[in-house]
Amino acid sequence: MKAVAVQAFGSPEGLAVIDLPDPSPADGQVLITTEAIGVGGVDTKIRSGALAAYGFSEGHVLGGEIAGTVAAVGEGVDTSWVGQRVWAFTGVGGGYAEQAIAPAATLLPLPATMSAVDAVALGSSGAVAHFGLRHAHFAPGESVLVRGAAGGIGIMTVQLAARGGASAVAVTTSSAERGDRLRKLGATHVLDRAGDGGEDAPAGYDVIIDIVAGADLPSFFAKLNPNGRMVAVGAVAGEPPANFAMEMFAAFQKSMSFATFSANTVPAPDRHAVTAELIAAASRGELDTVVHEVLPLEQAVLAHQKMDAGEVFGRIVLTPSGS
Ligand SMILES: NC(=O)c1ccc[n+]([C@@H]2O[C@H](COP(=O)([O-])OP(=O)(O)OC[C@H]3O[C@@H](n4cnc5c(N)ncnc54)[C@H](OP(=O)(O)O)[C@@H]3O)[C@@H](O)[C@H]2O)c1
Repeated sequence: MKAVAVQAFGSPEGLAVIDLPDPSPADGQVLITTEAIGVGGVDTKIRSGALAAYGFSEGHVLGGEIAGTVAAVGEGVDTSWVGQRVWAFTGVGGGYAEQAIAPAATLLPLPATMSAVDAVALGSSGAVAHFGLRHAHFAPGESVLVRGAAGGIGIMTVQLAARGGASAVAVTTSSAERGDRLRKLGATHVLDRAGDGGEDAPAGYDVIIDIVAGADLPSFFAKLNPNGRMVAVGAVAGEPPANFAMEMFAAFQKSMSFATFSANTVPAPDRHAVTAELIAAASRGELDTVVHEVLPLEQAVLAHQKMDAGEVFGRIVLTPSGS
């Protein structure tokens, strides 16, 4: 089978299409003939070598999120899965391939009305957005700012906050065109990356979901209302300055909170149940899945170049040429 591996850490050109033997599922696993493969930010980080300290080495086959048809099951897995179209989470690799292994516990049957491409566009981003808002104790009627809203997690957070009855959903983004697209998904105010602009935007927010972090994170504490909560769910601009909490201390009387959130702390069955609910909601047309572009698996280099260039709104999805 064809797969895409990191042949050399660094630029996208270090990715290579290779031939591998078809994998076979171990106990508790299934083999999936892939139809759609999500390209995530973590894939570009692994490819760059930034996560080498976490055990990723050259030769690694990327890809954590796939949809396709179950071709075989391992010991202890219900054989009725064979032939079913599913969404699955492979973990941190093995997905950029014509055949991929996933734990049976992650499988979700795809509704007949949902394409494999849409399923991977929504997939894990939806669950991160849902639990990120929950971690921030978001309640209906509260105002929300989504910082870095143009990626998979932000797009889902905007939609879930709007559906959840937010009084305002402001977003930061880098272009008016992206702002218009985010408005169609539920954003009420569009700010620039620094959090400025946005006609009639609220002066403060009850909840800030921050996907960006980086040097500018502390300046966003000034945008929290009293008792406001900022939750960092990502760090696309890197870590914040070491003394970032000083801005919060300087406004002690506002009783603000800051937290990080990782979906790794959510029990797997809860993530599974929420992903199932969100896939069902999308199949009913209640949530939009945003696919930036569908590319053949063999063009994974181009997909990563587009990711690195910051030109992706939503998700790039790879499809094996056979599907
Ligand atoms: N918490 C969890 O469990 C979890 C799970 C998976 C991934 N993650 C994390 O989530 C992040 C990826 O999320 P994603 O795919 O939704 O995001 P993304 O698409 O990589 O980035 C989101 C948006 O941030 C904006 N942005 C990029 N660089 C920026 C900068 N230097 N300053 C300000 N804005 C910038 C861009 O939009 P504009 O150009 O429009 O501004 C971009 O579209 C990663 O940090 C990943 O590690 C977290």
